[in-house]
Amino acid sequence: MAARHFLTLADLDSTELEALLRRAAELRALHHAGSLHEPLRGRVLGMIFEKSSTRTRVAFEAGMAQLGGSAIFLSPRDSQLGRGEPIEDTARVLCSMVDAVMIRTFAHENVERFASACRVPVINGLTDDHHPCQLLADLQTWQAHRGAITGRTVAWMGDGNNMCRSWMQAAERMGFQLHIGCPADYIPADLDAYPATRHIIDPEEAVKGVDLVVTDVWASMGMEEEQATRLAAFRPYQVNEAIMAEAADDALFMHCLPAHRGEEVSAAVIDGPQSVVWEEAENRLHAQKALLEWLIAGTA
Ligand code: CP
Ligand code: NVA
Repeated sequence: MAARHFLTLADLDSTELEALLRRAAELRALHHAGSLHEPLRGRVLGMIFEKSSTRTRVAFEAGMAQLGGSAIFLSPRDSQLGRGEPIEDTARVLCSMVDAVMIRTFAHENVERFASACRVPVINGLTDDHHPCQLLADLQTWQAHRGAITGRTVAWMGDGNNMCRSWMQAAERMGFQLHIGCPADYIPADLDAYPATRHIIDPEEAVKGVDLVVTDVWASMGMEEEQATRLAAFRPYQVNEAIMAEAADDALFMHCLPAHRGEEVSAAVIDGPQSVVWEEAENRLHAQKALLEWLIAGTA
């Protein structure tokens, strides 16, 4: 049987996604209670990082250890991938040795090529187009605070990037409305394929009455040379107290981190009472453990 992969949020139907989020909440409770839960004893996760990471790497590595297994870190600097070994060849070899592979890379096509040659589950740990693992943690965090997200409205502020697209997919799966507050030049190219998403150029209009405001860095990894242009283009979309005042009174604020205070978000918002960013970051651990358990042990 072909392995199940997790390359985008669309790889899960809404029932599977709900089950995974329930399991993530259970695993969080087990972890906080100090209970041992080791369904992945002897199992190994291979992790390929072609871009930097703090949260994703630690969540996967600590997560595998806590589930009784282990993880191996590979980067292009110290593997043959960096010296031009074809992706498909690397995939065939790795999947004969490990139980699942996580990849963080540039072109989304790279994870698709890897997965097509791999008979164990492949997990997208971020590409230029998607960041589905982050959405698991974000949805888990929302549910812990506010319950079901169906029927709610979320505002994505800033760049129409990988995180934005994963939020667009979440809106389709979970049945909520997504506003993208973004300059016209930076909207996701495939926006029309997502009927639950609406582009609103005016930043105040984009957040008016919404239940959750989300943002992310204006120049993602790999776009460093566009930093100055982007800083100017996105300035009106900074999430600050004036922007949050337009949202619902009990609106939450999320950011996948790392954050740049004074750029995409003000210190008053990210360090303020509506921000749930630290819980959101912690939930990367629990959500990814639920994902590993489901993909490797076949339970959720
Ligand atoms: N949010 C996130 O993916 O963080 P890292 O880049 O630190 O993994
Ligand atoms: N959009 C950001 C997310 C970092 C976790 C990036 O791709 O760099």
